[in-house]
Amino acid sequence: MIPDLTAYDHRVVLITGGLGFIGSNLAMRLSASSGVEVRIVDSLHPACGGDPRNLDGIARPAQVHTFDLRESARLRGILPGVDVIFNLAGQVSHIDSMREPLQDLGANAEAHLSLLEGCRAVNPGARIVYSSTRQSYGRPQRLPVDEDHPIHPLDINGVNKYAGELYHRIYHKAHGLETCSLRLTNTYGPRQLIRHASQGVIGWFIHQILCGEEIVLFGDGKQLRDLTYVDCVVDALLLAGVHPHAAGKVYNLASGMPIALVDLVKLMITVYGKGSYRFAHFPEERRKIDIGDYYGSFSRIQEELGWSPAVSLREGIRRTLDFFERRRSIYLET
Ligand SMILES: NC(=O)c1ccc[n+]([C@@H]2O[C@H](COP(=O)([O-])OP(=O)(O)OC[C@H]3O[C@@H](n4cnc5c(N)ncnc54)[C@H](O)[C@@H]3O)[C@@H](O)[C@H]2O)c1
Repeated sequence: MIPDLTAYDHRVVLITGGLGFIGSNLAMRLSASSGVEVRIVDSLHPACGGDPRNLDGIARPAQVHTFDLRESARLRGILPGVDVIFNLAGQVSHIDSMREPLQDLGANAEAHLSLLEGCRAVNPGARIVYSSTRQSYGRPQRLPVDEDHPIHPLDINGVNKYAGELYHRIYHKAHGLETCSLRLTNTYGPRQLIRHASQGVIGWFIHQILCGEEIVLFGDGKQLRDLTYVDCVVDALLLAGVHPHAAGKVYNLASGMPIALVDLVKLMITVYGKGSYRFAHFPEERRKIDIGDYYGSFSRIQEELGWSPAVSLREGIRRTLDFFERRRSIYLET
C-alpha cells in the first residue's frame, strides 16, 4: 500500500539522520505535502552517508539542525511540538563497527537513549519509528527469517543496533512511549553512499559499474540477499508513523524476491547496458562477519499495516543507476 500523505497534514515530523540516504528520501517524499512541517537533525558524521546535497530539489525546505543526538540540551530544544519522529540516525557500516566499536556504540546505542530520554522528558506523546536491522539475526537458522527468529549478531553493529531496538521497546513498555521498530534489510536507491565500499556491497557494485570498473564478487557470489528499494522503505516508515496498530511492534521489511549476488550483478549489467565482473577471494575481515544466505518474511507488516514492496528489483535498479548517472559529480567524488 502506498501511504496517503494527508495522514501527515498539520503534523510536525522530525527525521533523525535526515541528511543521510533513507532519511533524505523520506524528507523528499514528505516535502511534497504542504501540510507537514519537516525538521531534521543530523550530525553529518564523516563516516556516514549524510550530505546536505541529498536534499537538492526538495519541494519545500526542511528545518535542518546539524548536531549529534547525544547533545541532549539542543535536542530537547527541537522536540516539543513534534508528532512523529523517524529515528534513522545511525552508523551503517558493519566493517567500521568492527574497526571502531566504541564509535558504533555511541552512534547506534547511546544516541538513541539520548533521544528516548529527551522524548520522555519533553515530548512523551510523539510516535517514534526506529530503523532497526536484519543484521541482528546473524546467520539465519531458517529461511525466510521472521521476527521470531533468534537474535545472534555476528558483528558489533548487529549488537548495538539491537540495543537501540530494545531501548525503544523498553521505553514503550515502561514509559508508555509510542515506539515501533522496522528491521530493514539491504536498502538501495538514489542518495545512498556509493563513494566507498564501507557501507555495503550494493552501493559498491553501483560505484564500480558507473566507473567502468570490473565488479568484484567475494567467494562464489551465490549468497542470497534480500533487497528493498528505498521508496518502499519510505512507504513502510510512513505507514508505521501513523498506523494505530504499530505502537510497541517490531516488523521485518523484506522483498519477497531473494537474489544471489552474482545474479544481482548480472541484472545491473543488463540494465546499465555494459559492465563486467570477476570473483575474488573473500577477505578474512569480511568473511568472519558474513551472514551467509539471508532473506526475510514481511508477512507481519503486510497483515497488520498493509505494506508490501511496490517496486521490482529491475525497476529499482534502473531508477538508481539513472539517478547516479545524472549526478556523478556529487556522488562519485571522493
Ligand atoms: N541502508 C541500509 O541498507 C540499512 C539497513 C538496515 C538498517 N539501516 C538503518 O537505517 C538508518 C539509516 O541508514 P542510511 O542508509 O540512511 O545511513 P546513512 O549513513 O546514509 O544516514 C545515517 C545518517 O545518520 C547521521 N547520524 C549518525 N549518527 C548520528 C548521531 N549520533 N546524531 C545525529 N545524526 C547521526 C549521519 O550523519 C547520517 O547522515 C540507520 O540507522 C541504519 O542502521 C539501514
